[in-house]
Amino acid sequence: NKVKIEHDSSSQKPIAKESSKAQKNIIKKGIKDFKFGSVIGDGAYSTVMLATSIDTKKRYAAKVLNKEYLIRQKKVKYVSIEKTALQKLNNSPSVVRLFSTFQDESSLYFLLEYAPNGDFLSLMKKYGSLDETCARYYAAQIIDAIDYLHSNGIIHRDIKPENILLDGEMKIKLTDFGTAKLLNPTNNSVSKPEYDLSTRSKSFVGTAEYVSPELLNDSFTDYRCDIWAFGCILFQMIAGKPPFKATNEYLTFQKVMKVQYAFTPGFPLIIRDLVKKILVKNLDRRLTISQIKEHHFFKDLNFKDGSVWSKTPPEIK
Ligand code: ADE
Repeated sequence: NKVKIEHDSSSQKPIAKESSKAQKNIIKKGIKDFKFGSVIGDGAYSTVMLATSIDTKKRYAAKVLNKEYLIRQKKVKYVSIEKTALQKLNNSPSVVRLFSTFQDESSLYFLLEYAPNGDFLSLMKKYGSLDETCARYYAAQIIDAIDYLHSNGIIHRDIKPENILLDGEMKIKLTDFGTAKLLNPTNNSVSKPEYDLSTRSKSFVGTAEYVSPELLNDSFTDYRCDIWAFGCILFQMIAGKPPFKATNEYLTFQKVMKVQYAFTPGFPLIIRDLVKKILVKNLDRRLTISQIKEHHFFKDLNFKDGSVWSKTPPEIK
């Protein structure tokens, strides 16, 4: 007489539904089933806390969002976008898993996979910069993760080192889909959905250092903004700082619009070549994900068999 534990949606369901669930022996996990620990992250609209299951002792990251604040700031829509995106991407090693969502009177909760090795920004800060081998290992996973999102009709729009988490095996996990754009499948395909990746969006999203020039110049973004951000992160892995960085946002934007950046001394030529071909203002000349994967820098990697996700992480020096 096994009890099935369901990891799903909101805990505030109509009574009738709850009782029919009880008949089926389904028990929904709720806030009371977790012990909340320290704050492990926070954003503009949320706080992420360590949450340990009282029952299994398994650790999770609970993203807590204040309802009143979300309503006041008109951000409710973004919470549902984030939930939809995470549910859609739930079977990938490259995206933080969403196990459950629930709510109480004051807050919404996303019960997420806990990534115990922190975020990629902290890693880069700790070591100053990465060598070519390390950069290749992380860059391969990041570009493959972005490829996976785009293949599923999702543009992240705020790819940056803080939103790249590291799991227990030092594999990357993308997080924070609150500003993602969900594309509609085109209906000209019967079996496998295809997405119109040229769909353009007018709203400002992103972080100054990683924002693409098309958004600043023409107020639009499409999937290629994630590729631009990847180029910035690849540069940062080697240089120890993002390519477009100034004392304030305005000056940063000026640099982005002019694509004004300089390689640091000793920057490996092969990565220099790749970065130069990604940080291109003209969208049609910017490398595509397939072209990036085919670049000489990744020549010994096979992106088709998933092996970039099973490699032993290189030692960081
Ligand atoms: N900070 C924000 N989200 C997190 C997660 N899922 N795991 C660990 N730290 C986080």
